[in-house]
This record gives sequence, structure tokens and C-alpha cells, in this order.
Amino acid sequence: MTQDELKAAVADKAIREIEPWLEKDTVLGIGTGSTANLFIDRLKPLRDQFRGAVASSEASAQRLKSLGIDVFDLNSVGTLPFYIDGADEVNANLQMIKGGGAALTREKIVAACAERFICIADQSKYVSQLGNFPLPIEVIPMARSYVARQLVGLGVEPVYRQGVVTDNGNQIIDCYEFMIDDPLAMEARINAIVGVVTSGLFAERGADVLLLGNQEGVERITTS
Ligand code: A5P
Repeated sequence: MTQDELKAAVADKAIREIEPWLEKDTVLGIGTGSTANLFIDRLKPLRDQFRGAVASSEASAQRLKSLGIDVFDLNSVGTLPFYIDGADEVNANLQMIKGGGAALTREKIVAACAERFICIADQSKYVSQLGNFPLPIEVIPMARSYVARQLVGLGVEPVYRQGVVTDNGNQIIDCYEFMIDDPLAMEARINAIVGVVTSGLFAERGADVLLLGNQEGVERITTS
């Protein structure tokens, strides 16, 4: 199977995972990226079985609306039963690097409100150590150079993602040459730098379920 076919297979599996739990008042948390898009497309036939969704990006919100699915402001809903999203890297503890699409902060906020984070990914995303994919960090624009200098102190090679403005009006620094030994500690350390909005390291709030597509099928991996 191609990578796109693997992404489609995990999107199908995620639909089967959530469908039995859908109720008229259910609001789903929906992520961003090509795998999340495939999941969104598969929600269309189910749209009368649930109330709507909260999206982690303007792009996902537009896609949901175009399929006739209502999109809500997170402040107007309570806890979400599920957050479904892809990842750039995921390890065996279901900690992730996310934010390749620059939606990391909203993704982290929506994930924080979810009872269950279902990560959908193809085999290429599964790693023994996080860090080969450059870790994105969203920064307040005026703090960009300061944050970059602090990151150099951590042994990182920071690169400003030129021309990208996040949905929150901020900028992205990508951290290269940065293999992460202790994701929990590093997430706390980076988030403590003044001017950082958040990092794309999802360690404190990792996924609860990973649906991982490989040539044998879709593997369901949980932390417990
Ligand atoms: C978006 O900011 C990211 O966190 C995505 O979830 C991640 O980049 C995965 O995207 P793909 O499904 O396109 O690989």
C-alpha cells in the first residue's frame, strides 16, 4: 500500500472507533493535516448522528463546513469525548511531535479538552526517539530572536519558518538537530522560555490511542 492508502486506512479505522459513541449532542475535536482531512471527509455520511465539531485550524474548519458539519467555538462547548488528529512523529509512549502544518497551539488546546486523543498515522511516523522531524515552536513575533538564542543554548539549530503566520498571528521556529531524550522534561523547559506560545512536543498530553497503518493492516496501540 502507498502512504496515502495507509492514511486512508487509519482514517477508516478511526471512524469505526468513534461511530458507536456518537450521540446527538456529541461535539468532536478535529485536527489538521492530510490524514485528518481524510478523516473529515469520512464524517460526511455520519453528520446527522452528532452535533458538530471543534477544529484545530481554519483550514479544517472550512473543510468541515463545506461538508455540512457545524463548527463550534471551543469556548461554547465543554469537554470533548474525542480528539482525532495526525502526527509528524509518534513514539511507543504515544508522545508526539506535531505542528508540521503550523497548527500546533490550537491542536494542543483542543487536545487538552478531549477525554480521548486518537492519533491516526502511517508507519513512517512511528519512531523510537522523537526529534528527527524538526520540532516546531510557535513564538510571539517580537520574541523570535530571543527564543532562538535560548534554543541555541539547548543545543538546537533554530530555523525561522519564513512566510508562515499561524492562525493566532504568530511565527514558527523549527528546531533541527534535536533528538529528544526526555520529552516530558523538554516540553516543560521549552514552554518556560518567555515568548514561546507553545512547542509541538505533545508529551504531557500525548495520545491515548494510536491507530497505526502498516502493510499488515491498522495496528491499535494504547498506553495502558
Ligand atoms: C499540523 O500542524 C500537524 O500537527 C499535523 O497533524 C501533522 O503535520 C500531520 O500531518 P499529516 O497527516 O499531513 O502528515
